[in-house]
Amino acid sequence: MTIDIYIGSDHGGFKLKNIIIKHLNELGYSVQDAGCYSEDSCDYPVIAKEVVNEVLETGKKGILVCGTGIGMSIAANRYSGIRASHCTDTFTARMTRMHNDSNILCLGERVTGAGLALDIVDIWLNTEFEGGRHLNRIKML
Ligand code: RB5
Repeated sequence: MTIDIYIGSDHGGFKLKNIIIKHLNELGYSVQDAGCYSEDSCDYPVIAKEVVNEVLETGKKGILVCGTGIGMSIAANRYSGIRASHCTDTFTARMTRMHNDSNILCLGERVTGAGLALDIVDIWLNTEFEGGRHLNRIKML
């Protein structure tokens, strides 16, 4: 099966991650889960690296969930070629695709309710990069 989206969480994002996976599967996406696989405490940088590696290797998109979304975004953005966006609203989810060509979406289970999180995911996945002057800018990163 071809993987469309790579996803991962730590224990703080485990429940929201599973809600997102179910939602994406229902929409017909194939999703590969890099862990974690339980609510046992684990280290978000380890999971972030797994998803980062897949995104860099395949050019597909990734989603990372932790308690706040911040730890995952800090971890993912340490890697060249990753443009990870921590979003808590649909406007920034849309704009970060249009202007930043965001390739990883970060969400916080303890911050963003599941209904809003799924809207953010849908908008982020379905918004195209505008290119043009924005391409020049992301090349400067
Ligand atoms: C785990 O307790 C929590 O620190 C983690 O999920 C995340 O929010 C870190 O940024």
